[in-house]
Amino acid sequence: MKQIILSGDRPTGRLHLGHYVGSVKRRVELQNSGKFDEIYIMIADAQALTDNADNPEKVRRNILEVALDYMSVGLDPKKSVMFIQSQVPALYELTAYYMNLVTVSRLQRNPTIKSEIKLRGFESSIPSGFLNYPVSQAADITAFDATCVPVGEDQMPMVEQTKEIVHSFNRIYGETLVEPKILLPETNVCQRLCGIDGKAKMSKSLGNCIYLADTPEDIKKKVMSMYTDPNHLKVSDPGCVEGNTVFTYLDAFCTDEHFEKYLPEYKNLDELKAHYRRGGLGDVKIKRFLNAVLEDILTPIRARRKELEQDIEGVMKVLEEGCAKANMKANATLKRAKNAMKINYFDDSENNITDYFKDK
Ligand code: TRP
Repeated sequence: MKQIILSGDRPTGRLHLGHYVGSVKRRVELQNSGKFDEIYIMIADAQALTDNADNPEKVRRNILEVALDYMSVGLDPKKSVMFIQSQVPALYELTAYYMNLVTVSRLQRNPTIKSEIKLRGFESSIPSGFLNYPVSQAADITAFDATCVPVGEDQMPMVEQTKEIVHSFNRIYGETLVEPKILLPETNVCQRLCGIDGKAKMSKSLGNCIYLADTPEDIKKKVMSMYTDPNHLKVSDPGCVEGNTVFTYLDAFCTDEHFEKYLPEYKNLDELKAHYRRGGLGDVKIKRFLNAVLEDILTPIRARRKELEQDIEGVMKVLEEGCAKANMKANATLKRAKNAMKINYFDDSENNITDYFKDK
């Protein structure tokens, strides 16, 4: 069986370090592993509109930002098809048929939907398109016959919902859709990177993000303001590593090579942590090190972004060609699904509905 990846992001802002360690970096590694036959990366503008219907300009403005972020971290249009969700109509036709296989109460039990409803204060006025986005996400995944969906842990309920739809569809209409597997980040830290304030999640609305496109000055300022151990007042005090944002980020980003390059008096992160715990290691030193590590990772990304920004027409062309390829694939799946449902009345002799009248 072909190995196929589908993943994507809502274009509601530039991508940040949480996206990077949570999914985007992994996609680039998977892309370059050579283990996949097809890779589709979708900019989910239609899904973004399910809770931003009154602010389409925000979604519009961020489509190219996200595309630039993708390409600057190393997604390569020669290997990965990058496309925009709203430009692939077959996704909505599939969504309509899948909706009949899912109950409203099942959608209301979806843990991610539940917490998003709370967060957005939708309680008594949930847009029905929003409640339904897990079904539309099932269409995104199955339209591309995806076997592998690399995403953060908050997307687990969406992939579960997709599997249920695949089972129902295949049971009723015959083996048609491919069941996907979720691929989560390898470590806990990467699954849900906290914000620079130590709050649970890096999120645009909390204003605690470091963006891939931030300038070196922005990043330095943010790193220097990071939440550490509030009881670590003097350098000589013993410090706590758990819940200390600087160490959380070092866990997510630094490698032994970074120590060799920027802090050779320590071999690795374990040694640095041990010193911090003993006392005698100041916050400024660990923050400077983290800043150097982040710069090491982000400098080449920033440079590629600058280059791509010089040729926005070229980036648009990548997306346009991506949409054409995505439409071919999704249309083929839609045709297969409609054949299975026997509703392709004009294209397929097996779906002929005139038989009922032959004997009359
Ligand atoms: N829900 C994802 C997000 O919030 C975006 C998305 C839409 C997606 N369709 C998808 C992710 C299909 C993976 C697979 O970022």
